[in-house]
Amino acid sequence: MDEKKETDIYILAIESSCDETAAAVVKNGREVLSNVISSQIALHTQYGGVVPELASRKHIEKINQVIGTALWEAGMTLSEMTAVAVTYGPGLVGALLVGVAAAKALAYGAGLPLVGVHHIEGHISANFIENPGLEPPFLCLIVSGGHTHLVIMKDYGEFEIIGRTRDDAAGEAFDKVARAIGLGYPGGPKIDRAARAGNPHAMEFPRAKIEGCPYDFSFSGLKSAVLNFLNHETMMGTKVNKNDLAASFQNAVVEVLVGRTILAAKEYGIREVAIAGGVASNSSLRGSLAAACEKEGLRFYHPSPIFCTDNAAMIGCAAYYEYKKGVRSGLDLNAVPNLKLGER
Ligand code: KG4
Ligand code: ZN
Repeated sequence: MDEKKETDIYILAIESSCDETAAAVVKNGREVLSNVISSQIALHTQYGGVVPELASRKHIEKINQVIGTALWEAGMTLSEMTAVAVTYGPGLVGALLVGVAAAKALAYGAGLPLVGVHHIEGHISANFIENPGLEPPFLCLIVSGGHTHLVIMKDYGEFEIIGRTRDDAAGEAFDKVARAIGLGYPGGPKIDRAARAGNPHAMEFPRAKIEGCPYDFSFSGLKSAVLNFLNHETMMGTKVNKNDLAASFQNAVVEVLVGRTILAAKEYGIREVAIAGGVASNSSLRGSLAAACEKEGLRFYHPSPIFCTDNAAMIGCAAYYEYKKGVRSGLDLNAVPNLKLGER
């Protein structure tokens, strides 16, 4: 550990909203001293998706070990922390409760303040970690397994949601299509890989528009179109090229995400664009959005893939700004599975 100044703020952050048990130590909001993630992918793969009850049990098994490792890797002790932060929503209630209970126990035991963090605020804040110059306001496209939002981060902790999905989240569509093609779980990275060997224009799939809501998304029609195509070809005895199918599906998702993000940036006069969430690690989305931003003269920010998927460093980063604003959670903090962004 480096020299500790009186004014330095060290946050021990905990994340357990879905299928990653994670803890991190973050200094002054943007310096990640440790980032430990225990993934449950192997456990859930055999079921083709996250089984909530199993996720909670695995979190209980791993949480103390993950927190201990995060402190150890940072070269610090609990008593040297300024605060303990934890994701309290949205997410799977049983999974969230494990992190919340652990954070409350540590905060109480060590006499430290507790800061409850919104999971999506964490995802957006992941952009601060490697971009020291980035400050609000900026536009952020959040694409994860449970969420697809276009948000203006007006200030730290202040958000205006200008678009959202009407049905499936982008990551959910990736996961469902991957399962149908037989690529397995988690679908996003598998489609990303398969698509690299495929032709994105081999099949034409629909790009849904919502009348009167130019920034909203809908992916269930696209998912059904892929499934119908697959069923039809199978019935006809035609062998489907999985790489082409993956590439064509991904192309349809990326085109819509990029198109609406650029439109929003132009309409709202925002010059800085960021992405966040698990799907933000998709190579085609990153490449296309980077190219579109360059063409429009917009500045594009993206976290490294490890900070796109669920992690606790992003929670520590968001917690720092909440802490500085005076936000403190009581020991009655509870998990809120459908917590809205910007709500406390
Ligand atoms: O943010 P995240 O780790 O968890 C949630 O908060 O939901 O996102 C997980 C989602 C999954 O749906 C996963 O398939 C997707 O992110 N994902 C990807 C890629 N890596 C993860 N989707 C597309 N391409 C990827 N490379
Ligand atoms: Zn997430």
